Amino acid sequence: MMFCKDIVKEQAEKYDSFYLYDESQIVEQIQKLKEHFPDVWFLYSVKCNCNSSVLHSVFSQGFGADVASAGEVERVLDAGLGKESIYYSAPGKSTEDIKDAIQNSVLIADSIDEVERIQTIAEQMNMVAEIGLRINPNFSFNGNQGMPSKFGIDEEQAITFIKEQDFTNIKITGIHVHLRCQELNADILATYYENILNLSKRIQEVNPEPFTFINMGSGMGIPYADGDTPLNIDKLGRLVHKSLSAFRDTFPNTKIMIETGRFIVAKAGIYVTKVVDRKVSYGKTYIMLKNTLNGFIRPSLARLIAHYSAEQSPKGSEPLFTSIDAFQFIALSDKTPLEQVDLVGNLCTATDVIAEDITMPYLECGDILIITNAGAYAAVLSPMQFSTQPQPVELFVNLKHEVKI
Ligand SMILES: Cc1ncc(COP(=O)(O)O)c(C=O)c1O
Repeated sequence: MMFCKDIVKEQAEKYDSFYLYDESQIVEQIQKLKEHFPDVWFLYSVKCNCNSSVLHSVFSQGFGADVASAGEVERVLDAGLGKESIYYSAPGKSTEDIKDAIQNSVLIADSIDEVERIQTIAEQMNMVAEIGLRINPNFSFNGNQGMPSKFGIDEEQAITFIKEQDFTNIKITGIHVHLRCQELNADILATYYENILNLSKRIQEVNPEPFTFINMGSGMGIPYADGDTPLNIDKLGRLVHKSLSAFRDTFPNTKIMIETGRFIVAKAGIYVTKVVDRKVSYGKTYIMLKNTLNGFIRPSLARLIAHYSAEQSPKGSEPLFTSIDAFQFIALSDKTPLEQVDLVGNLCTATDVIAEDITMPYLECGDILIITNAGAYAAVLSPMQFSTQPQPVELFVNLKHEVKI
């Protein structure tokens, strides 16, 4: 475990459940990306963890922001970024969202209807909006045929639309594609990026404005389960560099962007909870923990899916579910005898279970349990209002080892 046990124990004196984010691990992941992808600019996907200390830390390293709501635009402005570093891409933007964000972010239109509404609003505001289009390409993440999607504008539709449009208050200056998260195969990712570069050439051919950016979306995964093979970032970096070198001959000034959330923060976060009760029922031992489903929902969802799926390894469905063994449960106790137990939470629902028949040290009230991989899609996804429990706090350990709330 990379977290300092003393810090965990110290904070557990004050809080029964909390998140702990470690800045040194965030910075380490960022450095890896910068080193292996020198010709790419990274955007941090704020939706995965919008904690303000995390935002400040990531942006201080030169990342831009991938935001998915007008609210996230506000958060990112507060964290010090300017319009040119904020890319707002989400389906279903309302007219209000567009009005709120048009002057503070680069809007990525998700539909033709949205482009038309941006035009109307830009005209009313007497401005020319430089926007991107999110494209649903005619290829899939794995390189097969394109598929219907609620995200983006189909490639052929976009090409026809661009050829016919004569908007006065809009310039299309880039494209965005995002098809999937959590890929661990460098070859699949490299081919996907290469396909996007080719797509951007097809669209650029009909677009009157030169593209200033190509946003290739996310996709880089992390090892969650003990048996997962980490993404070979060195190989991916080399493959991307090769594709980009050729691309740069024709597009020397276009910014190439990749979005990333979990790659930099998921493993930098842990969730800490405490034993609040224990009991034996018909021979089964239950260890009751504070705020599990309602504090960090993903481990409970993994159990739920394991129960309902006929498959041994059900397919991931991000960001709610990665795999049934995506989290490690580490007790800060070495009491014996070891026991086989179910780890459950303190909610009035039988679905509040995070592990079944797991071997743990002997656990009793007050003992501390750590859940790993809690830096992304964790606090932001969890139903903390459920049952009016005291909510877990989010703590941030900075590079000087100071703990901030
Ligand atoms: C458009 C877009 N970009 C980036 C991300 C971030 O993905 P990840 O955290 O896997 O990097 C997501 C996640 O859902 C997304 O929808």
